[in-house]
Amino acid sequence: MVITTTVADPREHLYCTFASRYMRDSVPKFLMPERSIPKDAAYQIISDELMLDGAPRLNLASFVTTWMEPECDKLIMAALNKNYVDMDEYPVTTELQNRCVNMIAHLYKAPIREDETAVGVGTVGSSEAIMLAGLAFKRKWQMKRKSEGKPYDNPNIVTGANVQVCWEKFARYFEVELKEVKLSEGCYVMDPVKAVEMVDENSICVAAILGSTLTGEFEDVKLLNELLTKKNQETGWQTPIHVDAASGGFIAPFLYPDLEWDFRLPLVKSINVSGHKYGLVYPGVGWVVWRGKEDLPDDLVFHINYLGSDQPTFTLNFSKGSSQIIAQYYQFIRLGFEGYKHIIENCMENAKVLKEGIEKTGRFNILSKDVGVPLVAFSLKDSSQYTVFQISEYLRRFSWIVPAYTMPPNAEHVAVLRVVVREDFSRSLAERLVSDIEKVLEELDAIPSYAITKTAHVTATANKTANDKPVKSSETETQVDVIKHWKKLVDGRRTGAC
Ligand SMILES: Cc1ncc(COP(=O)(O)O)c(C=O)c1O
Repeated sequence: MVITTTVADPREHLYCTFASRYMRDSVPKFLMPERSIPKDAAYQIISDELMLDGAPRLNLASFVTTWMEPECDKLIMAALNKNYVDMDEYPVTTELQNRCVNMIAHLYKAPIREDETAVGVGTVGSSEAIMLAGLAFKRKWQMKRKSEGKPYDNPNIVTGANVQVCWEKFARYFEVELKEVKLSEGCYVMDPVKAVEMVDENSICVAAILGSTLTGEFEDVKLLNELLTKKNQETGWQTPIHVDAASGGFIAPFLYPDLEWDFRLPLVKSINVSGHKYGLVYPGVGWVVWRGKEDLPDDLVFHINYLGSDQPTFTLNFSKGSSQIIAQYYQFIRLGFEGYKHIIENCMENAKVLKEGIEKTGRFNILSKDVGVPLVAFSLKDSSQYTVFQISEYLRRFSWIVPAYTMPPNAEHVAVLRVVVREDFSRSLAERLVSDIEKVLEELDAIPSYAITKTAHVTATANKTANDKPVKSSETETQVDVIKHWKKLVDGRRTGAC
């Protein structure tokens, strides 16, 4: 056997990283390299490439936390090597999770007796939380149908067409039909009347959203509860409600304590919330809490004992990090109710400044509401010269990441920009963004002829019949074509909005 050592240059260890050969060699992309490289070179290569990512704090597409206090960063770093699932080995971490679950369940007014603890679990985010809640509803419905000797192979969930993609994932992965209430221009949330009309004996739940991803608007859970109670009484069904409070779950309790959307409503059986959104923790942590023990079927809970004592688990993944759970507990005790309230109030104030600045340009319609998640969703009043997709592109030049997207059915012809106002988006940044939007509008206004010619060409091409005669289209159809064209152009490049 020949053993070779390949030190190309014995003095290499003396060179600074940028003088080493690692900086001129191309980096491995598809195959694991044969040989090791020094740690400082590996660090430099990767951190340099990452410079080309967007700046998280200017990523206004995301609800997810981009700033935490350095004290919490320390706790996070110290727990990076702790596997959350090793509950017997890390009982304190498990205890912190349980404390968080209890605090959240109490915040949402779960009917917990003095001698009881809350039922819930920490997850990677709201998506996992929703999968777990959905599974619990499906299993409960199946058990009931079986006991009644009825078919149980065709479950559905009623939602608005504005649901986040994780609901579509749940539906596809776990074979549940998603029955979506269509939106319309001017109404971008689920209409509870239409939702309840769509409920049938196979509906495992109605999912309402507290803080629509698209506009931040809260759906009317109270009205839904009333209408569904009536329908349940008439039909004998027991269709429950799940509230997807991914964003709104850490807004409503602090800003609108009298708004009834939570376990105060009897049909609400489970609620999810993202700890990494307005729970103010870095990604990824989410939570799901159930009204009571009877709402989480026993056979979905696994008991493991090979790590020590008996540990119940109900999660999709086995191993995961502990840091985020610890960070969530830090925020709860560090900020308390008062701290969360102040932070969310500031977010709302800054969203207002932004909204007023955008309105002042006279060029946009505001689609988001004053009550809801602190964000501003706005559409162009006139998209005949350019669209929101171009505005989004141009804002990138000022380093802002502002997503543009079209609404779901039946409001696809409406295209919007959305700015999520997070804790770390101060008033001065809001004012700066308004001024940059004004600059972008000026720039785009200055190139009308090129844009108009190009757009007109695209529209005319799209509107030709089989025998090549152009068809006259209505203003809305033209708008749809223009939006489709620009959407296609930027789709490949734009970041997803979560
Ligand atoms: C309403 C809603 N539900 C669910 C999700 C998914 O949340 P997560 O990213 O925590 O998985 C989102 C994400 O934005 C959301 O807005």
